[in-house]
Amino acid sequence: MESSPPPVIAIDGPSAAGKGTVAQGVAGKLGFHYLNSGALYRAVALAALESGADLENEAKLSDITLNLKANFDRDAVKLEGRDVTGVLMTERISSAASRIAAVAGVRTALLERQRGFRLPPGLVADGRDMGSVVFPDARLKIFLTASPEARAERRYKQLMDKGMNANMTALLQDIRERDKRDSVRAVAPLKKCADAVLLDSTGVPAGAVVTQVLALYEERVKMAP
Ligand code: C5P
Repeated sequence: MESSPPPVIAIDGPSAAGKGTVAQGVAGKLGFHYLNSGALYRAVALAALESGADLENEAKLSDITLNLKANFDRDAVKLEGRDVTGVLMTERISSAASRIAAVAGVRTALLERQRGFRLPPGLVADGRDMGSVVFPDARLKIFLTASPEARAERRYKQLMDKGMNANMTALLQDIRERDKRDSVRAVAPLKKCADAVLLDSTGVPAGAVVTQVLALYEERVKMAP
C-alpha cells in the first residue's frame, strides 16, 4: 500500500501580511518543516541582478533558477555559501523578485525544488501559489491578508529591526505595485483558492493568527486523521 505524503499547510497571501511569522509559528508548534517560497524568488532575483541578466529573458532566467545554489539555514539564506539574508529583504530585491516571478520558466524551474521541502512529519509553506499550484492537495489552505497600510507598517518595522532604512510612503507604494503585479500576471496569479480559508490579520497579533490556524488544522485532522 502506498503511504500518503506528509501533510502540508499552505499559507498564501499578499506581501507583508504576516505569512512568514505565522507560518514559522505554526511550524514550530507542530514540529513541521517550513518553506519560505518568497526567499527562493528573492534569491533568483539577486542571482539574476548580479549576473546582469535582463529580467525578461526567460531562457536566461530559467537557467539561473535551475542552477541556483541557495541554502536555507533556519532564518538565514545563503547564495553560493554567502549570507544574503539582509540583502534579500531590500526593496530593490522585492521589486526584482516580483518581476522574475511573472516569468513562467522561473516558476516551473522552482516547482520541484519547492516540493522537495515536503518531508515528514509535515510542512508549512508560505507564498502566493502554495495552495493553488505547488501543493494543491494541502491539508489546510489559508489566504492571509491585511490592509495595505497595516502591511506597509509591518514591513517598516521589520526593516527597522534589521537596522535598515525605510520610508513608509515608498513602502506603501511598493506594496500596492507588487500586489498589482502579483495579481494580474498570467502565471500563478495571487488569488484566494476556492478551498482556502480567508484570514485578515489587520490589527490582529501574529500569535492570535497562529492559534487560529492551529485550531483549523486540528479540525481538519479530526475530520480525516
Ligand atoms: O513573499 P515575498 O514578499 O518574500 O515574495 C517576494 C516576491 O516573490 C513576491 O512579490 C512575489 O512576486 C514572488 N512570489 C511568488 N510566488 C511565491 C512566493 C513569492 O510569485 N510562492
